Amino acid sequence: MTDTKKSIHGQWSSRLAFILAATGSAVGLGNIWKFPYIAGENGGGAFVIIYLLCVLLIGVPIMMAETMFGRRTRQNPINTMKTLSEEAGADKNWHYLGWMGVIAGFLILSYYSVIAGWASAYVLKAFTGSFFDADASEIQELFDGLIASPVQLIFWHSLFIVATMSIVARGINTGIEKAVRFLMPSLFVMLILLVAYAMTTGSYDQGIEFLFMPDFSKLTGDSVLTAMGHAFFTLSIGMGAIMVYGSYLPKDISISKTVFLIAGTDTAVALLAGMAIFPIVFASGLEPAAGPGLIFQTLPIAFGNMTGGWLFGVLFFVMLVFAALSSSISLIEPAVAWLVENKDMDRKQACIWSGWITWLLGLGTVFSFNVWSGFRLFDRTIFELLDYLTANLLLPIGGFCIAVFAGWIMKQQHSEKELDMPNPLGYQAWKILISYVAPAAVFLVFLHVVGVL
Ligand code: PFF
Repeated sequence: MTDTKKSIHGQWSSRLAFILAATGSAVGLGNIWKFPYIAGENGGGAFVIIYLLCVLLIGVPIMMAETMFGRRTRQNPINTMKTLSEEAGADKNWHYLGWMGVIAGFLILSYYSVIAGWASAYVLKAFTGSFFDADASEIQELFDGLIASPVQLIFWHSLFIVATMSIVARGINTGIEKAVRFLMPSLFVMLILLVAYAMTTGSYDQGIEFLFMPDFSKLTGDSVLTAMGHAFFTLSIGMGAIMVYGSYLPKDISISKTVFLIAGTDTAVALLAGMAIFPIVFASGLEPAAGPGLIFQTLPIAFGNMTGGWLFGVLFFVMLVFAALSSSISLIEPAVAWLVENKDMDRKQACIWSGWITWLLGLGTVFSFNVWSGFRLFDRTIFELLDYLTANLLLPIGGFCIAVFAGWIMKQQHSEKELDMPNPLGYQAWKILISYVAPAAVFLVFLHVVGVL
């Protein structure tokens, strides 16, 4: 494989562009919407520790592996796995790993877009002053009213899919890169302002204690799985999104440093979101285990009662939509890249096709909050099932396979050359994590969940 080869889709214009795009993919609803509510449902501190360990010991090494796979072949994840397995003289079936990733991308985006739709609806609510002077029960009614209405949810879901696809259709530099350059820095500033507000609520200490004081008696097998699944979800790994972004990465950029920076920023955003939300939850007498509606039921109370709350409210939900957009584009990019490379479509056609499929799948999630809310499969609604299947099963299984391939199948000289770490100890540490620690950890968590351990 020559060093000068570029992807047919082009490449990032700089290291910063890749960092922003990959951070944009990582930082999203997972950090601001999902992390606080699953931490709330799983008892807080102890859950957070397991999640942090998973990010460091499993997430970071796998993210490095994915980036390096993509950069080595400069192709979509399906072709990447095909090319890499040919190069390593391994079984051709490895390319199914790429397929699994593309399917996971469709499934995740289908519900991600519905939740991003909630955030979009809240931009309008904030703008029209719906939170003004509202108490917890009025805010609750606002939320219940939204999710009970299939028409409203379909409207916002459709809008979000169209927005995602229009960015992806424009391509790497003028679409994805341009969007994230502006989105990511503003999000950070907003979160810090919100944490500052949370400090004034009087329940800051209680919130911080809930988030950081571990009580291991609250951990169940399922919460360990949720914490691990979330590490995959929040870092966008295990399904080829980072792989496809890696395929647009210029050769001379250090993968290890870049990945540390991305994972660090992602973790910081999640913790800041928790530090902003839990104090407000306790100050308003709400339940931390309120589930997926948590931030929609808490933050508006803060916005409705603080000075400048109108502006903060509008800005916050705009940021949330933007954070979701910079993630959703990476969820569908593997499929779009495959359609362009293998099915001779142009980007626009590829986006129209994948947009329609995702939109249709998304209806399942829309209805699971209202007309089909009584329907349960394996004790879960369609939304809960999609979330569990993707975050807790498909991504960890994908990540497990990526780790095995990187540690045991890919030739050492190839991974050493791609990662090009300045300190040989760094490579050794990565090799141990990716060959033993990450696969064993995923495996043990699965054994624990099925009750063998
Ligand atoms: N990392 C995103 C978030 O935390 O919201 C979600 C996500 C994006 C998951 C891309 C997977 C992915 F490939």
